[in-house]
Amino acid sequence: MKKTTFSVTVLTGFLCIAGSLIAGGKGPESIDLKAKYKVEATKPAVVFPHHKHQAKLECVKCHESADGGKLKFEIKNLTGVGNDFHKVACWPCHKEMNVPKGVACTTCHK
Ligand code: HEC
Ligand code: HEC
Ligand code: HEC
Repeated sequence: MKKTTFSVTVLTGFLCIAGSLIAGGKGPESIDLKAKYKVEATKPAVVFPHHKHQAKLECVKCHESADGGKLKFEIKNLTGVGNDFHKVACWPCHKEMNVPKGVACTTCHK
């Protein structure tokens, strides 16, 4: 009985630590991409809803590894409507997954 109580306590403690590590590893809730990439914007800044995407997608859809970090997309061109966020990172997936209003300007530029 005592041993069981001890095991439960240890296990609960372990799960709490594991849980907080996982939560801490998920990165920011949302990310101001204009600020992060220092875009000289003519349009309202895009604040990317990071955790909302995580709820629907695997990390490796966008990151090279499952713990986040380096993105799979190479973002070099940041100007005009032909910029790499549109062409390479965001739009291809929105089109492929038929995200409602996925390429409508105001979905991202608010
Ligand atoms: C799926 C999200 C998304 C959609 C939809 C989107 N954009 Fe963007 N756009 C971005 C991101 C991300 C950036 C780079 C970060 C920033 O500028 O805040 C950007 C940058 C830009 C830029 C270059 C920076 C600037 O502000 O001058 C222009 C121009 C632009 N978008 C125009 C448009 C237009 C026009 C539409 C609609 C046809 C559109 N975007 C739809 C995500 C999107
Ligand atoms: C739809 C694409 C997408 C998905 C899915 C996604 N992320 Fe991200 N994540 C991003 C973008 C964009 C950034 C902004 C960082 C950048 O531009 O380098 C970011 C940033 C991060 C950061 C912060 C990195 C830094 O340098 O500030 C962490 C940590 C992270 N993501 C972890 C994760 C984890 C863990 C998952 C899965 C549970 C995940 N991400 C899923 C797109 C995504
Ligand atoms: C790998 C696929 C994928 C990529 C890459 C991706 N998205 Fe999305 N995005 C989705 C899906 C799926 C949804 C619909 C989410 C839902 O229904 O909750 C979505 C929805 C959104 C929404 C609407 C969220 C809402 O509140 O309804 C915004 C804004 C958005 N994405 C911005 C971006 C930006 C900016 C980028 C590029 C940095 C990006 N997305 C890259 C798959 C993606």
